[in-house]
Amino acid sequence: MTTTSQASSAVPAPLPPHIPPHIPPHLVRNADLWAEISAAGQDAHARAAALHHETPPIFYVPQLGYLPGCWVPRRADDLRQILQDTETFSSRGVMPFAQMLGETWAMIPIEVDPPDHAKFRALLNPLFAPKRVDALEASIREQASALIAGFAARGHCDFNAEFADPFPALIFLRLMGWETREAERFVAWTHAIVKGTDMQQVVGAVMQVRDYLRQRIAERRLHPGDDFTSSLLSSQVDGRALTDDEVFGICFLVFIGGLDTVTSSLGFHFLHLARHPEQQAELRAHPERIPQAVEEMLRAYSIVNMRRLVTKDITVGEATMKRGDLVLISTEFGNLDPEKYTDPANVDFSRADAPHMAFAYGVHRCVGSHLARRELRIAIELWLQALPPFSLVPERTVRVQASGVFGVSNLHLEWPAPAPATTLTAASVRAA
Ligand code: HEM
Repeated sequence: MTTTSQASSAVPAPLPPHIPPHIPPHLVRNADLWAEISAAGQDAHARAAALHHETPPIFYVPQLGYLPGCWVPRRADDLRQILQDTETFSSRGVMPFAQMLGETWAMIPIEVDPPDHAKFRALLNPLFAPKRVDALEASIREQASALIAGFAARGHCDFNAEFADPFPALIFLRLMGWETREAERFVAWTHAIVKGTDMQQVVGAVMQVRDYLRQRIAERRLHPGDDFTSSLLSSQVDGRALTDDEVFGICFLVFIGGLDTVTSSLGFHFLHLARHPEQQAELRAHPERIPQAVEEMLRAYSIVNMRRLVTKDITVGEATMKRGDLVLISTEFGNLDPEKYTDPANVDFSRADAPHMAFAYGVHRCVGSHLARRELRIAIELWLQALPPFSLVPERTVRVQASGVFGVSNLHLEWPAPAPATTLTAASVRAA
């Protein structure tokens, strides 16, 4: 197992914030964007919506967390245009992880541009198709029911630790064909890598995940099974088998893309339902509205921010971007654009406005969206069936972190506990 001190030798020294000379001063927002949004706590997305009225359509931030400065387009139309133009706005090398380790593998297919992207994406599409997700439905329900049964009778829970963290981790491990008893380790790695702000810890966790995944892949090469990893190992691109680096790059991406995104979305959706008892009651009375409610919450509480690398000089609106510049694609800004949505920060389950871009847009649109939607829908369905109306525990302060993937922590929920004689089991939660 790699130690943090070993990891530290690979950590590059952080660069001081740098504003390239071609960025006009009036487009520079010299503030820590993530800190500004995080400071709004539970109202972080409302703060992001308000920024639409306080910033130029495309502005520049000199630094973004531990990442270098980048352009920040906030209009949905600009974001869509950028996502569609993969020749000018490349995904190559935009994830920092291989570089952190001084290695050269790519996260596939997110860091692969067309036309090669399509070859890898074609391998993944069938593994995440709606039919595959249908086949997982019973197992997803089983996992959710078992977790809820663990705390239902208590009348309160630590939402992330007891539900939102383990739920997608268990589903992911089953999907990959790996041991579900590893869930705790995966949750810890996810926290360190996706939500971490300490570069040394991020690098240490990336190394541990790399070692773990490479070992599992080697095992499956020797002993194939009926699972995702084995299926990748038997796949071909351009008439050849995938290399170990390619299989690893796909597994690492599915791990990064598939766990924390669901955890974070669950956090915001349940925070919203706890703060809005009238909308919780609406879904209890009309469970058929849950899928629509999930769509609206995915829009209003989008979480993912990705980056693109400018490959040739281009002007978008007022911003003249140069080759080598980075561009932030914030799904929050896109989905809270007042030019696109009426009263965008308002969560309206019957909203008829344009569709959202929580899963992005264009060739890299999230391949796991069917699975994610199913997990989110089932979680809400089973919670509302099994538990009475829930609310926030008043003594606990919910924290919101704006970063590459926005997230919620310290979310404690409570509800009237059933009489002591009633014991809830996973089976009774399912039957409720
Ligand atoms: C609510 C949960 C989720 C959200 C909001 C989300 C969001 C996104 C977004 C915005 C992208 C585009 C990234 C880019 O263009 O650079 C993406 C891509 C991707 N997502 Fe998700 N995701 C979620 C869940 C999942 C799950 C459950 C999986 C798999 C288990 C997954 C796997 C992937 C993969 C493999 C890609 C890359 C697709 C490509 O490059 O063609 N995601 N996701």
